[in-house]
Amino acid sequence: MTSARSVLSALRHDKPLRPDDLQWMAAGLADGTVSDAQAGAFAMGICARGLDRAGRVALTLAMRDSGHVLSWDVDAPVLDKHSTGGVGDCVSLILAPALAACGAVVPMISGRGLGHTGGTLDKLEAIPGLVTVLDEDRFRAVVRDAGCAIVGATAEVAPADKRLYAVRDVTSTVDSLDLITASILAKKLAGGLEGLVLDVKVGKGAFMKDMASARALAEALTETANAAGCRTTAVISDMSQPLAASLGNALEVAEVMRVLTGDQRGPLVEISAALGGVLMASAGLAKGVQDGADLIAAAIRDGRAAERFGRMLAAMGGPVRFLEDWARFLPEAPVIREVTAPADGYVSDIDGEALGMAVVGLGGGRMLETDEVNPAVGLAQVVRLGDAVQRGQPLAMVHAARPDAADAAARAVRDAITLQPRAPRDLPDLIHERIG
Ligand code: URA
Repeated sequence: MTSARSVLSALRHDKPLRPDDLQWMAAGLADGTVSDAQAGAFAMGICARGLDRAGRVALTLAMRDSGHVLSWDVDAPVLDKHSTGGVGDCVSLILAPALAACGAVVPMISGRGLGHTGGTLDKLEAIPGLVTVLDEDRFRAVVRDAGCAIVGATAEVAPADKRLYAVRDVTSTVDSLDLITASILAKKLAGGLEGLVLDVKVGKGAFMKDMASARALAEALTETANAAGCRTTAVISDMSQPLAASLGNALEVAEVMRVLTGDQRGPLVEISAALGGVLMASAGLAKGVQDGADLIAAAIRDGRAAERFGRMLAAMGGPVRFLEDWARFLPEAPVIREVTAPADGYVSDIDGEALGMAVVGLGGGRMLETDEVNPAVGLAQVVRLGDAVQRGQPLAMVHAARPDAADAAARAVRDAITLQPRAPRDLPDLIHERIG
C-alpha cells in the first residue's frame, strides 16, 4: 500500500517513482495526510535526486489533479501565456485581450510579485474597484463576456502546489528544475488549456541570468507541458533591461493603456506580437507565426484589444469608463523626483534586479507575504540601453510615498544604471530563441 514512508523510501533508495506514488503524494499534500516533515523530505529528495522526463510529467499531472481542473465548452481555442518573471513586464495585460480579440478564449490564472519581479495581479489591482480573486462562476462569466479574464488561483487550483511551495520556501528547495516545472505547469494546466506560450526571461532582471539556465528551464517546461497534452512553445526573451519604461503597478497599467490606446511602438508591442503569433499559429488561428504576430499587432493597433480589456475590467469590478479616462482613475504618488545622470555618456548596463528591488523598497512589492502593496509607487521614464544622456538629464523618475523613500530609490537607480563614454556596440535582441 502506498504511504508517505513508501514514497520517501523509494526516493531515498533511487527506486522508480510510479505515477500512482506521485498521485498519492499530491493528494496527501492537498488533504493534509502528508505531514510538513514528509513534504519537506519529499521536496529535498526530488531536489537531490532529480526526476526523469516521465517523472516530471507524472508529478505535474499529479499536482494539477490535486484540485479542480477547468474545462471549457467553447467553440474557440483555449490559450494562455506565462512569463517566468521580469521587471516592467506587463505583457499579459496586452496579450490576453489581444488574443481574445483575435478569436481565442483566454482564462489566465496569474500570480503576484515574487522577489524583485512584478506580478500581474498586483498590477491589475492598481485599478480601483477591480477584484482578481473570483469564484469559478464569476471567472467563467468574465471569460464569456470579454473572451479573457486574468485572475488569481483559488484554493481549489492545484492545492498540492500551494502546500509544497510553502514548504519549499523554508527548506531551501525552491531552486529545482523539476519542482519549478511541476509547480508552474500544475497551476497553468488546471486552467484547461489547449495551447500555452511560455516567456522565459533571461538577463539581469530575470531569475535566469544566463542562456544555459534559461534554455534548461524552457526545455523542461515545454517537454513536460507537451507530454501532458497542452501544445506549448517557449520563447526565451531578453531581460537585460526592463521591458517597459515604467516599473510599479499603476505606472505599468499606464504603460499598457498608452499601448492599447495610442502608442504602438516599442518592446511591449513587439513581444506581445511575438508571443501571440506563436499561440495563434499553434491554435490554427493564423497561417504561421508571422501572420499570427501581424494579427495580434493589428488588434492592438485598431483598438479591438483595448475594447476587450475595457470589457474585462468592467466585468471584474473596475471602472466602466476606464478606457476613456484611465489617467484619472489610476492612483498617483505624492512625491515625484527626477534621478539625474551624474555625467555625460551612453547607457551601457542596467541592473534590472536592483531596479525591481528599488520598487519593492518604495512599497510597490512585498518583503513579506503579508505586506500591503502601494499601487502608486515605482519608477517611470527609465532610460534604455544605448541611450545617450547628458549630465543632469533624467535617468528615471521616482514615484514615492515619502521624500526619504524617494531619496533611497534615487540612489538605487543611479547605482543600477551604468554610463560609459562610447555607445555600446551591440544591443541585445528582444527575442533570443524559440523552443518547442
Ligand atoms: N513560480 C511558481 O509558480 N512556482 C515555482 O516553483 C517557481 C516560480
